[in-house]
Amino acid sequence: MNVKDLFINYFVSKGHIQIPSAPIVPENDPSVLFNTAGMQPLIPYLLGNPHPSGERLCDYQKCVRLTDLEEVGDKTHHTFFEMLGNWSLGSYFKKESIEYSFEFLTKVLNLPIEKLAITVFKGSDQIPKDTESASIWMDLGIKENHIAYLGEEDNFWAAGETGPCGPDTEIFFWRDEEKVPENFDPEDNRWVEIWNNVFMEFNRTLEGKVEPLPKKNVDTGMGYERITAVIEGVTDNYTSSIWKNIIEKIEEISNLPYQGNEKSMRIIADHIRTSVFISADDSGITPSNTDQGYILRRLIRRAIRHAKKLNIDISSSWDIEIAKIIIEKYKNYYPELETKKEIILKVLEEEKIKFNRTLEKGLKEFEKVVSKTDKMDGATAFHLYDTYGFPIELTIELANERNVSVDELGFQEKMKEHQEKSRTAAVGKFKGGLAGDGIIETKYHTATHLLNAALKQVLGADTHQRGSNINESRMRFDFNCDHKLTEEEKKKTEDLVNHWISLDLPVTIESMSKEEALKKGAEAMFIEKYPDTVNVYSIGNVSKEICGGPHVKSTKELGTFQIQKEESSASGIRRIKAILKD
Ligand code: SER
Repeated sequence: MNVKDLFINYFVSKGHIQIPSAPIVPENDPSVLFNTAGMQPLIPYLLGNPHPSGERLCDYQKCVRLTDLEEVGDKTHHTFFEMLGNWSLGSYFKKESIEYSFEFLTKVLNLPIEKLAITVFKGSDQIPKDTESASIWMDLGIKENHIAYLGEEDNFWAAGETGPCGPDTEIFFWRDEEKVPENFDPEDNRWVEIWNNVFMEFNRTLEGKVEPLPKKNVDTGMGYERITAVIEGVTDNYTSSIWKNIIEKIEEISNLPYQGNEKSMRIIADHIRTSVFISADDSGITPSNTDQGYILRRLIRRAIRHAKKLNIDISSSWDIEIAKIIIEKYKNYYPELETKKEIILKVLEEEKIKFNRTLEKGLKEFEKVVSKTDKMDGATAFHLYDTYGFPIELTIELANERNVSVDELGFQEKMKEHQEKSRTAAVGKFKGGLAGDGIIETKYHTATHLLNAALKQVLGADTHQRGSNINESRMRFDFNCDHKLTEEEKKKTEDLVNHWISLDLPVTIESMSKEEALKKGAEAMFIEKYPDTVNVYSIGNVSKEICGGPHVKSTKELGTFQIQKEESSASGIRRIKAILKD
């Protein structure tokens, strides 16, 4: 049985409820791009809100960490990983938590006790030394010289500057042929950290003060890729059973052995896997030049570049074949990979086509530049980005391979100039729009909210606004959708908007904190950054959106809504043009 199932079975047998993995893109926190730890979706509950599934929870959570992106290519780093976790929300604390971890590792996974070592918190001016955890470990049979006391940098865990936090105890495993040392040296990297038990009893405030939480919680996290490598006795994660058939597929496609081509093969395997999971996420991310969409674009393009390095025919369906293996492998745990299969494959295919069109020419251009200089200026890097679609990180990586430096600051300046130019152009287009608060534009603005709500009902709840533009004579609305709307879908949408207009629904405004708004289910464009206090506009019970306004007072004022055109706007994004008639 795989560790994921063993873990869940064990904690369920100890009275925990298994909760599903939350989406990778946090649902209620537009300030971070991805979930980076299992506890992240649980923050409100760690702060004291009751969890609907009770006080003992366990799961495996999809996570994406971008801090490791550049490291991918070595034996241990991944951009996507799964975190196994168990939580006590005020139920048990240090004793049971440590006993569960110990029993799971030594009785279920059968790891030898003598190969385990532990770190505990040595204390700070605000929080005392954690001798309690140390003595629980010793009672279980861990020798005193396999326990080390470390400071805040190592044994105090917090998800961010503020929020739930606490001292932790970390479990290490000896991964080497050599005899287990008598004394535990946490600096010796043959000891690998496998599990972290955080005793979340504090909340860090904006002022940096650490205050007790209403309940003492436990938050644990164990990286699935690492524990699997440990159990299987491999030091290169990519040779564990998790990656085996993915790497074999890349060997088959490239007709090359893993040995000697590890770096590119690991990058391809990792980046395609992460792209598959991001594309399948409920948030409906597609490749773009901002936020999560840009990360997705970077991952796919970097994978393509490394496929090219392995002499894979990049216009073939090499990426689709790899993605299919990944979908097959994970679909029992993450059914969305199966239900969103078409979308995933389309995202990969379309991005590949886009990049392949310019990759060859871009590489030639790159060669031309680096044959003349070992310092690439910002304008050239921007040209590679703008004309050939080379993400700056890709240009830097290519340049590094050739010992050429890139003026990244110069690139950022060019980028800013370019954005300012496009913004001015956009503002120009927008003239006479909401800036003037004209009554017609205001009507169109309210109609935008109704259209957003109607599309969700017709196409599914994961349909979201991706952009909009209004002028005196029409509205334009962009949204994520993987297909051209059928006549029936268009008609249904139009009818629904007109139905709501005829109900003469009141438009009301409320001011509240961003958190509260999101908790209440207000629609928010994830690409926007919101202030702490926001206005939420509601239209009867049919729509609730964070928005700056202005809006009409009631829907009757809108007249009749008519869709004039439905077309593609970008990959995975459709555009509706509509008018209001008296
Ligand atoms: N939050 C801790 C971590 O990510 C334990 O789950 O390591």
